[in-house]
Amino acid sequence: MDNYKLLINGGKPLIGETFVSGGKNTSVAVIPAALLSDDVCTIENVPDIEDVRVLYDILTMLGAKVDFDRQNRRMVIDPREVNGTKVDHRYASRMRASYYLIGALLGRFGEAEVAYPGGCAIGSRPFDLHIKGFQALGAQVEDRSAVISAKGKLVGANVFFDRITVGGTINVMLAAAKAEGTTILHNAAKEPHIVDLANFLNSMGAKVKGAGTDTIRIRGVNRLHGSTYAVIPDQIETGTLMIAAAATRGDVTIRGCIPTHMEALTAKLLEMGVLVSELDDAIRVRTVGAHRAVNVKTQEYPGFPTDLQQPMSAMLCMAKGTSIINETIFETRLKHLNEIARMGAHVRILDQTAIIDGVDELYGAPVTCTDLRAGAALVVAGLMAKGTTEIYEPSFIARGYEHIEEKLRSLGADIRRESL
Ligand code: EPU
Repeated sequence: MDNYKLLINGGKPLIGETFVSGGKNTSVAVIPAALLSDDVCTIENVPDIEDVRVLYDILTMLGAKVDFDRQNRRMVIDPREVNGTKVDHRYASRMRASYYLIGALLGRFGEAEVAYPGGCAIGSRPFDLHIKGFQALGAQVEDRSAVISAKGKLVGANVFFDRITVGGTINVMLAAAKAEGTTILHNAAKEPHIVDLANFLNSMGAKVKGAGTDTIRIRGVNRLHGSTYAVIPDQIETGTLMIAAAATRGDVTIRGCIPTHMEALTAKLLEMGVLVSELDDAIRVRTVGAHRAVNVKTQEYPGFPTDLQQPMSAMLCMAKGTSIINETIFETRLKHLNEIARMGAHVRILDQTAIIDGVDELYGAPVTCTDLRAGAALVVAGLMAKGTTEIYEPSFIARGYEHIEEKLRSLGADIRRESL
């Protein structure tokens, strides 16, 4: 139970300029990747979020020297004295991406023992495809008592993913970077953070080609050297801010983002009647007319991201007409809509589909976060609603959004914490 709640007095348009932070899902892959290096790595643009603090604790526990300069968003990782290959439940269960320690430790030491990960409860989230990938490279893997143990000399191989998995693609890339010979990943994920991880690995001397396509080739190398690398801006934070700007009928310029990563969302916003203009590294979002209802089907990149489905569906609760949301990636990622229904939204949920009949008003109410992006969706709903929305369990939001309250306040939002 969190010891504070968020209070939002909604109905005010967000206006002004803001800056997007470094990517969460890229940082949580790049930081474990630094363990593969034989020397010091400096990672820049690292967001000061809970998931990064958990990784700091894990790497330190393993024996790495880690310095995180939060002011300058710079993490310096010296992995030379890492002497542990085990991550127990107390550490691993604090986040989803703790399972990247399997790929990184297996790749560096030929062994790893990592307890089951935690993370958002948005469906069953198996990791069988990660395990199959490690096995294809020659590792012996045991999955017992909620701990994955993997060991063995890794040899490059063909890895076919039965379905597209971001985590599986990243984990096997980590394991393969120093394997003997060439690994080819087929049906790989294409998300921007897969490309970012490949770029980081290559900056350390790895030989990764094809990231961003569905076939990634990794020629194993004996040694990876230190590197200084800045992670890409957060695609999902950018999208959340775009949605919040549109949802409040505001006018916001988001600086420091990569507009080409946002094309699926931009297309949907344009279809709704929102005005979106793109500059080299900024996006301006504003609304003049009514928002039209649209249908959203989540897909792997470059499709509409599941991580933006939640804030997007919150906004659609006030669009004119009926929107149909089809969440194809995760089984239970529509729970936020039950909360927004408490604020007056008209929503029917059938399995992984939601039918939203837009209403003219939402009204502030007490609501509870069930996961990170559900939290973002409730913030969007609170910003749109008349009156005061109380958001309980808001620490979910701090796991993935850096200083989001301050950023929204600087755009004119009335959002604050209150102790419980
Ligand atoms: N899947 C399997 N077997 C596996 C792996 C995945 O069946 O071995 C299934 C999953 O159950 C899911 C689908 O494949 O139905 C896709 O899962 P994926 O592996 O791509 O997701 P993930 O790696 O668990 C990452 C992000 C999520 C994001 C998804 C999809 C991190 C740490 N997490 O999860 O981010 O939603 O990719 O883009 O990078 C978030 O940031 O809020 C978040 C949940």
